[in-house]
Amino acid sequence: MRLILVGPPGAGKGTQALHLASHFGIPHISTGDIFRLNIKGETDLGKLAKSYMDAGNLVPDSVTNEMVADRLTHDDAQSGFLLDGYPRNVGQADFLKEALVKADTTLDAVLEFALANEEIIKRLSGRRTCRGCGGVSHVIFNAPKTAGICDLCQGELYQREDDKEEVIAHRLDVYSEQTAPIIDYYRKTGLLKTISAIGEVNEIADRAIAALK
Ligand code: AP5
Repeated sequence: MRLILVGPPGAGKGTQALHLASHFGIPHISTGDIFRLNIKGETDLGKLAKSYMDAGNLVPDSVTNEMVADRLTHDDAQSGFLLDGYPRNVGQADFLKEALVKADTTLDAVLEFALANEEIIKRLSGRRTCRGCGGVSHVIFNAPKTAGICDLCQGELYQREDDKEEVIAHRLDVYSEQTAPIIDYYRKTGLLKTISAIGEVNEIADRAIAALK
């Protein structure tokens, strides 16, 4: 399965990616997670990405495209992959198309998660991310057993800079201006499947798997 997840920030792509990657036995490739790992490791890529991410802007295509192209050459991505957060504009979608042609392969599906802005704001403003393993929880919808501590690795939970209220609004604008056009792009290819991102996590995972059958 070669799959792309697309949807507004906070739609639950990362949460669902864990279920789908495990169900299909494919690696979960999140450009946001790769950037955050680089920021944590204080690499040059991390230093470059941080200012864009904290402000809710896209990291330049030249950097992002090469990073993804390299990741797709790894052994674990040869028989399938799940891309979460990429492509994020039509230029990236064109780049991916070319890269897949060169690798003599094709996409199987693009799964869109649909969610109203009101719900997105609730999800993002309450999200907490683990400094240790990067896992996500939510102060209300998926609260950790001990406040501020990750259930999975006991790491410290923090609020992402781009989950602060003033940045969320800007990320939604960036999504509608730059990312939403790829929905139509993939609709025209016949690969697009859209599901509602409202409901319990397991219920949405079942809905996603059914849509991909
Ligand atoms: P990225 O990390 O990709 O962020 P995003 O797309 O904005 O998505 P999020 O991680 O915010 O949300 P999500 O949909 O994964 O939701 P989640 O499962 O966490 O990108 C961050 C930044 O990196 C970008 O702004 C950009 O700067 C840069 N970047 C990344 N890719 C790039 C690219 N291709 N090009 C250029 N720049 C790029 O869920 C959200 C919350 O809701 C959680 O708290 C969760 O617990 C909760 N939740 C999940 N499901 C449910 C449910 N069913 N009910 C209730 N709560 C739920």
